[in-house]
Amino acid sequence: MAGATATSYTDKVLVTDEVAEFSDAVVAEMRSHLDKYPAERSRSALIPLLFVIQRERGWIDNPGVNFLAKFLDLEVTDVWETATFYSMFNLRPVGRHHIQICKTLSCKIMGEPEITEHICSKLGIHPGETTEDGKFTVSLVECLGSCGTAPMMQIGFDYHEDLTVEKVDKILEACK
Ligand code: FES
Repeated sequence: MAGATATSYTDKVLVTDEVAEFSDAVVAEMRSHLDKYPAERSRSALIPLLFVIQRERGWIDNPGVNFLAKFLDLEVTDVWETATFYSMFNLRPVGRHHIQICKTLSCKIMGEPEITEHICSKLGIHPGETTEDGKFTVSLVECLGSCGTAPMMQIGFDYHEDLTVEKVDKILEACK
C-alpha cells in the first residue's frame, strides 16, 4: 500500500558485528535482572534483558543482540533464538503505537477478521506495516491469553478486549 513501510517478521535480519553501548544506569539495571538468577542460569535473564534492549533501542536490533550475547557469555544465536520466538519482541522498528491483534481461534471466531480489516483500512496499511507518519504498526499475533474476552488486541502493554468496530474507533482516536 502506498507510503507504508514493510515490517514483516519474515524479512531477513541485517547482521553486523557492531555492539550496542548503554549508559551506566542501564547496565546497572541489566545487572540487577541478572542477579535474580543463579550464576549458572544467566540465560534465564534473557527475557527481561531483551525488554530492556527493546525499550532502549526501540526494537531488538543486531547490535543490541550482540551486546546481550557478550553480557551473558552466550552465542549470538542463543539470543536470537529467544528474541525470534516471542511476538512481544520487535525485530523491526515499530510505530509509536504497536497494535497487536490476536488472530488465534477464539478471536478469529469472535470477529478478528472484521476488526483487522477495519483497523487496516482506517490506517491505510496491511498487517506487518507501519503508517508513513510512524505512529502505528499493525501486527497479527498468536493467542495473547485473553480468549474469554475475544476479540482482543494489545497496544503497547495494554490489553483491549471485547472489541467492536465502535470500540476500536474510540481506542484509535485516543492514540492520536
Ligand atoms: S485466542 Fe485471542 S486471546 Fe486467545
